Amino acid sequence: MTPVKADKFTFGLWTVGWQARDPFGDATREAIDPVETVHRLAELGAYGVTFHDDDLIPFGSDEAARQKHIERFKAALAETGLVVPMATTNLFTHPVFKEGAFTANDRDVRRFALRKVMRNLDLAAELGANTYVFWGGREGSESDAAKDVRAALDRFKEGLDFLAQYCIDRGYDIRFALEPKPNEPRGDILLPTIGHALAFINSLEHSEMVGLNPEVGHEQMAGLNFVHGIAQALWHGKLFHIDLNGQRGVKYDQDFVFGHGDVLNAFFLVDLLETGGYEGPRHFDYKPLRTEDITGVWASAAANMRTYLLLKERAAAWRADPRVVEALAASKVPELSVPTLNPGESYEELMAEKSDVDALAARGSGIVHLNQLAVEHLMGVKP
Ligand code: GCO
Ligand code: MN
Ligand code: MN
Repeated sequence: MTPVKADKFTFGLWTVGWQARDPFGDATREAIDPVETVHRLAELGAYGVTFHDDDLIPFGSDEAARQKHIERFKAALAETGLVVPMATTNLFTHPVFKEGAFTANDRDVRRFALRKVMRNLDLAAELGANTYVFWGGREGSESDAAKDVRAALDRFKEGLDFLAQYCIDRGYDIRFALEPKPNEPRGDILLPTIGHALAFINSLEHSEMVGLNPEVGHEQMAGLNFVHGIAQALWHGKLFHIDLNGQRGVKYDQDFVFGHGDVLNAFFLVDLLETGGYEGPRHFDYKPLRTEDITGVWASAAANMRTYLLLKERAAAWRADPRVVEALAASKVPELSVPTLNPGESYEELMAEKSDVDALAARGSGIVHLNQLAVEHLMGVKP
């Protein structure tokens, strides 16, 4: 169960690097040098690393310092063979973004945000990233008086259209992935769920180059079923990237280790990712618990990958179990793939058919048995 590069596991610099500052307490850990992170992740079997501009180059660095940070990082990538499949912009930490970035009421802030993204897009392209994530953490409000949401969506679209055109004009092989979140740090965040974001993407100038980066915990914070959300994103051809982590119910964003929340949903998620045609990185966006020291940080990084691999093995065993094949058939799961109408069937032909409604209503679905088989595979119960 040792991860290998082909598993495509990636981590954000900000995940293991989180110093565990929260609204109630100071940091419990030292900062980690990004070069050290690259080496440790490579040793653990990761495939790649991702970053916000400010994770790599502290905000306000001059050009000389910026180049130095980039060169050291590049050298570490070259030494370890780690790749950078995704990058993103920090548009939330600096106080300038307190009222928003692309959708700040203050036009000067919006213009600054666009420049910050353009600059990091250049670096992302240079490092070979082909996905660029947009998480609008500060795009929202606490008061319905304070934000004209329709105007904000106009500005969000304007910003994304402009940046997409920038990539096209520069010849960058980059696609955008929007990351929904319902709230935190804003009281309410724009594009709060997968569904909202999918609808918004349709209105963009270059909608074909914009998809999603859904995060497990963010949908679960809204009480939604992540597996259903991911299935719909796949159905629309919009699952460009994914943030894996753990969350226990409708509460603050917990960013636990993958599987350390709703583990049954994680089991079906891995089954879907492995059988549903998703070929992108398995990206972990989690925070090592604030209780952990540096040993616990690296143990938590390894735990994400190990949990994924265990779930992958168990989901495959579940699919292959003859009892499951039989139970799926008994529940008529495969029958849903058969179109409801016959080819060329007329209204009259359909209307002429008689149904024994009472007999149909009396049929049991056998779903509890099917679900129990999943629970038992997940628990490692031998058939
Ligand atoms: C969160 C978010 C962030 C973003 C990341 C990319 O947990 O609220 O997931 O971690 O994914 O910052 O911008
Ligand atoms: Mn999160
Ligand atoms: Mn995320």
